[in-house]
Amino acid sequence: MKKFIQALPKVELHLHIEGTLEPELMFELAKRNNVDIPFQSIEEVRQAYSFHNLQSFLDIYYQGANVLIKEQDFFDITWAYLLRCQEDNVLHTEIFFDPQTHTARGIAFDTVVNGIHRALAKGSDELGISSKLIMCFLRHLDEKSAFETLSQAKPHKDKIIGVGLDSTEIGHPVGKFERVFNEAINQGFLTVAHAGEEGPASNIRDALDLLKVARIDHGVSCSEDNILLDQLIAQRIPLTVCPLSNIKLKVFDQMEQHNIVDLLLKGVCVTINSDDPAYFGGYMTDNFIAVTDAHPMEKAQVAQFTINAIEASFISDEEKERLVNITQTYLDQS
Ligand code: HPA
Ligand code: ZN
Repeated sequence: MKKFIQALPKVELHLHIEGTLEPELMFELAKRNNVDIPFQSIEEVRQAYSFHNLQSFLDIYYQGANVLIKEQDFFDITWAYLLRCQEDNVLHTEIFFDPQTHTARGIAFDTVVNGIHRALAKGSDELGISSKLIMCFLRHLDEKSAFETLSQAKPHKDKIIGVGLDSTEIGHPVGKFERVFNEAINQGFLTVAHAGEEGPASNIRDALDLLKVARIDHGVSCSEDNILLDQLIAQRIPLTVCPLSNIKLKVFDQMEQHNIVDLLLKGVCVTINSDDPAYFGGYMTDNFIAVTDAHPMEKAQVAQFTINAIEASFISDEEKERLVNITQTYLDQS
């Protein structure tokens, strides 16, 4: 099964580029940019990556992003992630970035987006990995800041396919962002949102109703609400689930208790994703292996995660058909 998973074609739909900052690169960039970090060694950084909930992670994650200053830094972090994609046979990836984490520190929006985009273009040319870019608003900040970020994105509309919503879920209802999401939709952006990670199923309903999202990031609390579950199944509303993240942030105590396989078997369009792999101990292959170790499955069921992700992605119908064929051929030959 591990061999099958390693070479299985994969599509990633929930990945924060700032969450791919490995301790080694953090130290390198801290040195290059003369930024102080509160760690003496790589081991010390890894020890600090022990979280008890989402907020305890976010505090460290925003601190780590301080070493990202120049366009080349954003290129380097993105390129390092794409090389991991190549190792894991990820054929297509849809990447989040958090502009406000950087603009709040005086880093220009252009610096961030140009660095990431340059790496994605090289990834397409040299590695054959296709990609889309989604900018997330931070839900702990206010509506005004989200509107400012949306206006900064205007000159980069050709590089950004959609807007999302991340950061602290509890205490920050999605309703605060209804107007800015509406404006983003009017400007032609697609929408997604984190919901039902730590928060209740009602947050998923609100994201669907108020933010008109094409898919839900996380969404695992949908199991609490049978009517919502029926809606997700009937309308094929995708969930971008992040198994190792959910264990590290104590959304579930153990992978055996995770509901992703139950949701798959019920017919929900669930997908497997790595979220913030440098912080949560694994990239795509690691997430697939962790799920199948805890929940014995057939190869065809495992491949369904990729088929679902292709369906849920923002690529063209022709490109979807091409990736489904690659995946189906691989499954048939395994
Ligand atoms: N949830 C909310 N905010 C985030 C996450 C997440 O999983 N990862 C990075 N920012
Ligand atoms: Zn996330």
